[in-house]
Amino acid sequence: MALESCIKENNKNRKLNHQLCRHQCRPLPILVLVLVLTFSSWFAFFSPRSYDHNSFTNTSLMSKNNKFIPPIPNTQTHHHYNSSSSSSSQSGPYHDWQLFAADFEEMMRNFKIYVYPHVYSNNNNTSSEEAFAGIFLPHPNPLNPKIGNYLSEHMFKLSLLRSSLITTIPQQAHSYFLPFSINAMRNDRRIRSEAAIAEFVAQYTRRISSQFPFWNASAGADHFYVCCHSVGRDAASKHADLHKNAVQVTCSSSYFQKLYVSHKDVSLPQVWPRPLHVPLNPPHARDRLVYFSGRIQNSNVRQELIALWGNDTSMDVFDKSPYPYEEGFRRSKYCLHVKGYEVNTARVSDAIHYGCIPVILSNYYDLPFANVLDWTKFSVIINTGEIPFLKKRLLSITRQMYLTMYRNLCQVRRHFVWHKTPRGYDSFYMTAYQLWLRTSVNRLSY
Ligand SMILES: *[C@@H]1O[C@H](CO)[C@@H](O)[C@H](O)[C@H]1NC(C)=O
Ligand SMILES: *[C@@H]1O[C@H](CO)[C@@H](O)[C@H](O)[C@H]1NC(C)=O
Ligand SMILES: *[C@@H]1O[C@H](CO)[C@@H](O)[C@H](O)[C@H]1NC(C)=O
Ligand SMILES: *[C@@H]1O[C@H](CO)[C@@H](O)[C@H](O)[C@H]1NC(C)=O
Ligand SMILES: *[C@@H]1O[C@H](CO)[C@@H](O)[C@H](O)[C@H]1NC(C)=O
Ligand SMILES: *[C@@H]1O[C@H](CO)[C@@H](O)[C@H](O)[C@H]1NC(C)=O
Repeated sequence: MALESCIKENNKNRKLNHQLCRHQCRPLPILVLVLVLTFSSWFAFFSPRSYDHNSFTNTSLMSKNNKFIPPIPNTQTHHHYNSSSSSSSQSGPYHDWQLFAADFEEMMRNFKIYVYPHVYSNNNNTSSEEAFAGIFLPHPNPLNPKIGNYLSEHMFKLSLLRSSLITTIPQQAHSYFLPFSINAMRNDRRIRSEAAIAEFVAQYTRRISSQFPFWNASAGADHFYVCCHSVGRDAASKHADLHKNAVQVTCSSSYFQKLYVSHKDVSLPQVWPRPLHVPLNPPHARDRLVYFSGRIQNSNVRQELIALWGNDTSMDVFDKSPYPYEEGFRRSKYCLHVKGYEVNTARVSDAIHYGCIPVILSNYYDLPFANVLDWTKFSVIINTGEIPFLKKRLLSITRQMYLTMYRNLCQVRRHFVWHKTPRGYDSFYMTAYQLWLRTSVNRLSY
């Protein structure tokens, strides 16, 4: 019964319902402890409360913002701090919902992001700017299926421009967005190659730092850019401060990525264009154990997976799925997210979207929003060296544990959705929250 309501709640995009997780959600004790310790010190360290926000409070924005903030659910359970583990077991898929929600609320009231003017179509400056305007303008149709891996990059920009966090007064901003699009550069005959993209980005950054005082004031530490395709991973390589100081918001959040700096940079969920509202298939209607479909070239991990489990009749593991991709996600309990050329693939957000528990076979991947979401509560994380034990591991998960994960998964779905005009705790505001945590930057005055 609780399960049906979970599905309904989520289909209607309603507020969180923490009642759903009454059961002891069985965490992986050591991992959770480490994560909780890491992230609580992380919160404490980065908590940007020292800011004096009063100087730029805009009441019309505030009341508008308050609309975005759903009530904090079920505060009662959080008062039972009589054992160290009780609070974490009560918080569903979150490390600490209350801490997060309070900080998020503060972000909604105070956080201001400035976008450099090249992003506005009425920018009417020099002819060279006009010539490259397409690199900076928001994409006219980011939901076009051909956008593929670039979707999150475009949706971030579009959402930001329509969000309440925008300020047109740069002196008020905590963060500065460099609005170039890797996708647009890739499609521009004058740029195209990865080397030329890096050169263009370096020149642009130098231009920003000479035309505006903000870059030099922090050596770029309060600036950020967004990319969600392997093509963009070297974009900062020709500008030292851009890759050392600025925040890279990226889907390729791998510790093995040369220019990725964990904790400075932000992991962005990779989402592919897809229908927004699909009814969730409930657990009892999921008759297959595991689903995976994906190209196996360029990936030893996928090759090993197919070699070991490709013939197993209880595992639907394919390099070419005999039935539609979406159907695999709908009818299976577990959906594999297997490292391809990169650690990230859109399969994790697809799994979440279709209500299939993600099984993550992708080492050294900074999972999106991992300082807020306790991934162990709604996904299964398996070392890529343990593919031989995959089936055993999944079969060892009891029905009760699976149902708890399914409920938690219902709760996190809204964090993996983009809206053209952002709302609630969607991918845009969750990503903005990560930037908000990084705003305690020392600046020179300008
Ligand atoms: C608040 O911000 C909105 C939108 O940027 C603007 O139209 C309005 O004039 C501002 N109000 C005040 C009091 O500054
Ligand atoms: C300890 O917490 C549990 C719930 O987690 C509660 O039922 C119990 O009354 C608490 N005990 C004390 C002494 O507060
Ligand atoms: C560009 O600027 C000129 C004046 O500097 C103005 O007359 C013209 O309307 C502007 N064009 C656009 C598209 O804004
Ligand atoms: C063009 O932009 C630069 C900096 O953004 C500004 O200093 C300059 O006045 C602008 N020129 C015109 C004609 O608007
Ligand atoms: C920022 O620093 C660079 C390099 O030192 C310099 O060329 C540029 O003029 C500075 N920008 C401003 C706005 O002063
Ligand atoms: C899977 O089946 C194919 C074709 O029947 C066979 O060639 C292959 O060796 C089998 N793989 C394993 C791991 O049993």
